[in-house]
Order: sequence, then C-alpha cells, then structure tokens
Amino acid sequence: MANSIAIDGPAGAGKSTIAKIVSKKLGFIYIDTGAMYRAMAVHLTRLGVDGNDFAAIEANIDSADISIGHENGEQVVYLNGENVNSQLRTEEVSSMASKSSANAKVREKLVELQRKQAKTTDVVMDGRDIGTVVLPDSNLKVYLTASSRVRAERRYKEMIEKGEQCDLDTIEKDIIERDHRDMTRENSPLKKADDAVEIDSSYMTIEEVADKIISLYNNL
Ligand code: DC
Repeated sequence: MANSIAIDGPAGAGKSTIAKIVSKKLGFIYIDTGAMYRAMAVHLTRLGVDGNDFAAIEANIDSADISIGHENGEQVVYLNGENVNSQLRTEEVSSMASKSSANAKVREKLVELQRKQAKTTDVVMDGRDIGTVVLPDSNLKVYLTASSRVRAERRYKEMIEKGEQCDLDTIEKDIIERDHRDMTRENSPLKKADDAVEIDSSYMTIEEVADKIISLYNNL
C-alpha cells in the first residue's frame, strides 16, 4: 500500500484547495472523490433520472464508465471516455450528486475506483468517507471543518466575484441542509474518524491549514 492522507469534512471547508497544496508540496497525487460522484450525477442527469428514484439510479449505474486521469497536475474525470470536468459544478449536477451519492451501489462502484488509485500511488484524497471507509489505514486522517456562516461567506464571495446574484442567508441555509443530508444518510455518512485530527479552518488562512497538515504528516 502506498502512502495516503485522507481529508474529510463538510462542503466549503476548503478541502480541495488545501488538498491540492498539500499534494503538490509532498509530491503526492490529489484525488477529488466528490468529482467522481459528480460525474455519476452528470450521467444520471443526462438520462433524465429522478434523483429520488433509487431503482432508476441503480438501473443506470452500470452504463457509466468513470475513470480519472491527470493532465498538467489537474485531475480529469472521464465519463464513458468523455472529459466532463467542465460539467461537474452546475446546480443541477450538485443537487443530483447529493442525492445519488447516498445510494449504496453508487458508492460501492466509486469506492472501488478510489481504492485502486491509492493502492499504487501516494495520494491526498478528499471526500466525506475517506478516513472512515475508503482508506481506513491512511497514514494521516484530517477532519476539516469551518462554521456554516464562514463557509457561506466564502461561497458568497466566490459567487459575487463571478458576477452571480446571491443571498448570504440562503447560501447558509443550503449549506446547513447539505450538511444534514451528508451526516444523516444511512450509507457512509460524513463523520470524523476516531483517529482523525480535527482542524477548524474558520479563522485560519489556507496556507496555515496546509502547513499544519504537512507538519502533522512529517512528524508521524
Ligand atoms: O465534495 P463535493 O461537493 O464535490 O461532493 C459532491 C457530492 O458527493 C456531495 O453531495 C457529497 C458527495 N460525496 C460523498 O458522498 N462522498 C465522497 N467521498 C465525496 C463526495
């Protein structure tokens, strides 16, 4: 088994930004597992599947061949051979991913792919269940959190910078709902692994969090 750092936590805590920095500094590959759930959601959305229809989701899993590669250091997700990176972040796909990722068969398929990646390559992998389910023997497990208000403010800033209309309270309400869904679902709910180090990024800079994780890893 290669070396790995597992970073779990709720949406908007800064996992992907920090995982990218840490992986670059340590020479590891960054694996964004959320992007795999999103690629499955692109597939289901294209087929017009209702996200609440478990049977329809399960009937269409096998026709999705999802794989990942890396181009210029960035993860690329392929859905049946097509690079779908530009389609992963729409509202429709986010909403479908949040529902379809609760399905045990979807998780089984993607967890297998995630474990395969970590077997032969040193990885920083982020998601919701990496330390608890995917890589329970990870060298270092981090549970990265931030208050819902701070996470909403970060998202608000991103949207305003893109020139999008938004409301801070509505964003925070959505975040709280998403946390609730992720934490209470039956299959692989978001929770801190017993042996994970919890880091609250609310009042830390990105660099401070990344440095802390690298120092934890180097002092194992
Ligand atoms: O981290 P993200 O927002 O890109 O994740 C997209 C969706 O997939 C989100 O609803 C949570 C879910 N997810 C999951 O259930 N397990 C993971 N390991 C990663 C993401």
